[in-house]
Amino acid sequence: MSAESTDQYHPGLEGVIANETAIANLEGKEGSGGLEYRGYRIEDLANVVSYEETAFLLLHGDLPSASQLRDFDARLRAARALPDPLVDLFRKIPPTIHPMDVLRTSVSVLSHYDPDVNAPPGDHAANVRKAERMIAQMPTAVAYHDRIVKGLPLVEPRGDLDHAANFLNMVNGSVPSETMRHAFDLSLVLYTEHELNASTFSARVTVSTLSDIYSGIVAAIGTLKGPLHGGANEEAWKVLEQVGAPENAERWIQDALARKERIMGFGHRVYKTGDPRSRILKEYCTKLAAEVGDDRWERIAEPIEKAVTTQKALPPNVDWPSARLYHYMNLSIELYTPIFAMARVAGWAAHIVEQLDHNRLMRPRARYIGPPNRSVTPLKNR
Ligand code: SDX
Repeated sequence: MSAESTDQYHPGLEGVIANETAIANLEGKEGSGGLEYRGYRIEDLANVVSYEETAFLLLHGDLPSASQLRDFDARLRAARALPDPLVDLFRKIPPTIHPMDVLRTSVSVLSHYDPDVNAPPGDHAANVRKAERMIAQMPTAVAYHDRIVKGLPLVEPRGDLDHAANFLNMVNGSVPSETMRHAFDLSLVLYTEHELNASTFSARVTVSTLSDIYSGIVAAIGTLKGPLHGGANEEAWKVLEQVGAPENAERWIQDALARKERIMGFGHRVYKTGDPRSRILKEYCTKLAAEVGDDRWERIAEPIEKAVTTQKALPPNVDWPSARLYHYMNLSIELYTPIFAMARVAGWAAHIVEQLDHNRLMRPRARYIGPPNRSVTPLKNR
């Protein structure tokens, strides 16, 4: 690496601008931090637009008209079914395999049955069609695998249910209340996109070699799985379970902070004054706790949130409230990160399409810190 570029090293690429994008902005007003999708503030989108409208916005650049939404929604509902070989595979995969690993496999298998499988990697229209299929099929894959592992009969996708209600019905075998449906739909809207986070970066690097969108999404799923990223929502629930009761919370968090433990669901590489998504979701945690008649988890979460926010200056991120939200929806904790993935696939796909529309191979450098030039000792002397 040439001498003049050694000061370019940023561990974890912190603060490095690696792409230009028109999809999401995390700067907020006057750079105070805030999330916008295609120029719309998340606070203005939340509770107003559905996940379907959000996915259309990200993939097509603007919010859909009523007729555009009708057509898009009809395409998604018609594309929810899975190829039989994938359902058969769910019955053969060891039941102990984590659903995030099975989702990674599922998307790989789905790519083999995609009608556009032979389209050129940079074919914009074909990539959008593939993205729509993945948006439609990933929830079915997550739900079917969950039901099979639990020894429950499959609940087929229902054309009369929207994206959020259909998924909850396929998993739980019953149509959710409007409060549950709306809260789940909102969580999907908030999880859909987040600029150049690790999994989105992974997707963009992958297709920057002119590899295909499915390879990019599989790479992104593998990246999202990690507990420093998407896997944090599952870990955040384990924190609450570990504490167990409100009266244990203060002692637990003070001991954890004293041990300098990393508290899952808190902190963010970009947001330093709080994650707007966490604030929006917290309101729904209270609502759903009331609907299920158990506010214990809210009373456990509050002192932990207060302590980490004030003592470590680390506000909660999106994963802290989403863990409780999904618990109230009776979803297994192993599904929390797959749900993050099935929401984020719209954002990943939008970035993949954007990357391929104006591609340049991504190939950063590394600063060499290994041993200096050495001469080879022949084997007979080693
Ligand atoms: C997501 O990038 C995105 O946009 C991601 C995401 C998206 O929508 O795609 O927003 C989704 O991934 C949210 C983040 C989910 N991850 C977690 O909740 C895991 C816990 N959080 C941390 O691991 C951490 O906050 C990160 C990974 C999120 C950010 O870490 P950074 O920017 O690399 O910061 P760091 O690890 O260098 O920590 C800086 C300091 C350290 O203290 P010192 O060693 O300097 O004394 O802050 C401390 C850390 O120990 N710290 C924490 C902490 N997070 C950072 N201490 C306790 N608990 C934490 N959660």
